Amino acid sequence: MILKHDIVIVGSGLAGLRAAVECAGQVDIAVVSKVLPTRSHSGAAQGGITASLGNEEEDRWDWHFFDTVKGSDYLGDQDAIEMMVKDAPRVIYELEHMGVPFSRTPDGKIAQRNFGGHTRDFGKRPVKRACYAADRTGRVILDTLYDQCLRHHITFYSEHYLLSLIFDKERCVGMVIYNLSTGELHLIQARAILLATGGCGRIYRTTSNGFASTGDGISLALRSGIPLEDMEFIQFHPTGLFPLGILVSEAARGEGGILRNRMGERFMERYAPTVRELAARDVVSRAILTEVREGRGIGGKDYIHLDLTHLGEEIIQKRLWEIASFARTFLGIDPVFEPIPVQPTCHYLMGGIPTDLDGRVLKDEKGTVAPGLYAAGECACVSVHGANRLGCNSLLDLLVFGRRSGQAMKQDLLHYEFSPLSEKHLKPTARAIEELLTCAGREKSDIIRQSMQSIMMDYGSVFRDAEGLKKGIEEIRNLKERYRKIKVSNSLKAFNYELMETIELGHQLDLAEVILLSALERKESRGAHWRKDFPHRADQDYLKHTLVLQTSKGLEVKYKPVKITQFHPEARVY
Ligand code: FUM
Repeated sequence: MILKHDIVIVGSGLAGLRAAVECAGQVDIAVVSKVLPTRSHSGAAQGGITASLGNEEEDRWDWHFFDTVKGSDYLGDQDAIEMMVKDAPRVIYELEHMGVPFSRTPDGKIAQRNFGGHTRDFGKRPVKRACYAADRTGRVILDTLYDQCLRHHITFYSEHYLLSLIFDKERCVGMVIYNLSTGELHLIQARAILLATGGCGRIYRTTSNGFASTGDGISLALRSGIPLEDMEFIQFHPTGLFPLGILVSEAARGEGGILRNRMGERFMERYAPTVRELAARDVVSRAILTEVREGRGIGGKDYIHLDLTHLGEEIIQKRLWEIASFARTFLGIDPVFEPIPVQPTCHYLMGGIPTDLDGRVLKDEKGTVAPGLYAAGECACVSVHGANRLGCNSLLDLLVFGRRSGQAMKQDLLHYEFSPLSEKHLKPTARAIEELLTCAGREKSDIIRQSMQSIMMDYGSVFRDAEGLKKGIEEIRNLKERYRKIKVSNSLKAFNYELMETIELGHQLDLAEVILLSALERKESRGAHWRKDFPHRADQDYLKHTLVLQTSKGLEVKYKPVKITQFHPEARVY
């Protein structure tokens, strides 16, 4: 069957749904999602969404601008950051009008809370900038946007998995999707395609990311000749529930939670005396792992404690209900009375598919647009987060650039007609699936996945060095060889998750190699990328974006300049 829509959005998280709402009623759009939309990973976002509303204390967009640039360790593109932070108050009121049930101040305004790195007066002291709905902010925004999509009768292909993108010369003109419930393949013809497929945290063993965050869209862009930007910058959130990795929101520290080692010491006083638990995430993650490595983890194990017991039951129940329920459900621990065991967890990809300010995908370092193809959200790199994202800036990014991509696609349709597709466009993808199902090999995808996740934890996570990164690349390349001999033992058509997970694994392996190579080539420490062998930031050599391209000879690394409009690099002070 060949389906046809003016615009097809792949991914039903906040970026995808916001783009869909933007286009609704004006052109024919469809959303393809490998999960049911309300299961998208955006729903796991807890702590909030930033905007300089100034509801709790004075705040200004230019303070938000400065913090985001500084938080990015000066690698963020400042034209994009300025645009995002200026648009933030509008985003919040729009969400409020759509029906998002934000938490409120006693006088009825949208409540705001502290998050690491958000300050007043260009870094002088913390400011309450994160608007929130208890600790389920992503959940309520996702549900509200999905309601809006239903209201606009947007077509959803839920539980349909993107297998390949189709290009006519240079232009992206369609895709092949796989219906998980029937095993059928479908062609979709489109005039514009938005990738809003999320991040790739599942490449790592310990992650806050949902099972769907396997980086498919990012990898398909790479395979289509698009370079990937700044893939070395992977954020580890300091507080994942031990040992599962589920997010324990930074809001807990914003509300006053304290990190303690096995002696009960508030160790962040040694690492970041001014801001302590609210230091940038990379700083807190390294501090926790240093405590663990030096034997001050709880009971000599790989975790430390997040202590909320002094906050009292009312605050925990009212503002941190979800994380308290996670601790109770998964660990049998009640945070009102006992500290929560936490460890750093892979949380967010700062890099991704390069785009302009309107989501148009860029195919080279000169900024040439890849016609018909757009990207927004975590899979994209616009780049507002640079080397390190500040908490609660991600939901803002998704909504600002999701909307802008929707607007750009509508405008650009004037230039793009449908390019006819036929069954011949289906054949290469159908053949690849057939090969996976009939391969005579003996390798199993779950074994290869576990090895990949261990390699990435060992060599590509919080602490890195040349020796480990080289070893990691070699081991990932070996796994890629083994992947060719994978046997998918389930040959059933309906809900063949083994088949889908095997395809996902292929994407993950490709991205793992890109991450490690980008990290190896960046011989400095910046933001979330920490090199033991190059422990300082080296602006003279590396104040630039990495681009990794897949060529017939393997991966090629290039660079492009950072856009600096106002704030020039200064030393990091904690
Ligand atoms: O800690 C958190 O609630 C996470 C927020 C974020 O990553 O933006």
